[in-house]
Amino acid sequence: MEPILRLQEVNTFYGAVQAHFDLSLDVYPGEITCLLGGNASGKSTAMKVIFGLVRPRTGRVLLGGEDATSWGTPRRVAWGLRSVPEARRLFPFMTVRENLLLGAYLRRDRRQVAKDLERMLDLFPRIGERLNQVAGTLSGGEQQMVAMARALMGNPRILCMDEPTMGLSPLWVDRVLELIQTINRQGTTVFMVEQNARAALQIAHRGCVLRHGVVTLNGTALELLDNPLVESAYLGGKAI
Ligand SMILES: Nc1ncnc2c1ncn2[C@@H]1O[C@H](COP(=O)(O)OP(=O)(O)O)[C@@H](O)[C@H]1O
Ligand SMILES: [Mg+2]
Repeated sequence: MEPILRLQEVNTFYGAVQAHFDLSLDVYPGEITCLLGGNASGKSTAMKVIFGLVRPRTGRVLLGGEDATSWGTPRRVAWGLRSVPEARRLFPFMTVRENLLLGAYLRRDRRQVAKDLERMLDLFPRIGERLNQVAGTLSGGEQQMVAMARALMGNPRILCMDEPTMGLSPLWVDRVLELIQTINRQGTTVFMVEQNARAALQIAHRGCVLRHGVVTLNGTALELLDNPLVESAYLGGKAI
């Protein structure tokens, strides 16, 4: 199976500070892949490199086997990348419905968009009850659902999520992860960045652990769940 997304030996800098050291990772179609790591390990920067928002100094980004390193962000989005950014970033003064339809702004297939909106309401019944509510008044977990639904309205080839469980109560963490699994089982490839390693690995197929910009572990979710180094890798344990 060919990866649908690849980072190859990426070195990223912010001025003199190096955020990635030969970062390589593969995302396979139909799977959930998670990039794990503590604060400031370079996870969000990896997301930005994937979207072309930050340019690596060296290394390549491949989308569907094509070299996309020089592509701008709009071209990558047109190709089929969608993101659920850190802290959701909804339009707080717009209604839930308006937020969802913005996710489909590139699409011309209006009838299919209407069908997809119906699908979102099946997937996230809580959203259906709140379509006319202003998004900023939703709870954190509900906002996360709207952010996921908005990204799915773009009919993505890869749904990319930056710390989807951040700031949520344990109950909502479980709910959101379950929804990500459901979305994946319905056919969407998922790439997610998480600090919450154990929880993310419960639903993922593969993962890798980033520490100070270096991939220290890489494997199937089962291998990583079995590996005690996963937690010590970024809970202040010994460097590995
Ligand atoms: N815009 C920026 N300018 C300078 N340094 C940055 C910027 N964004 C992130 N960094 C630095 O890059 C490193 C990785 O950050 P980030 O990718 O946000 O990590 P994570 O998402 O894993 O917490 C950190 O040391 C951070 O301080
Ligand atoms: Mg981050």
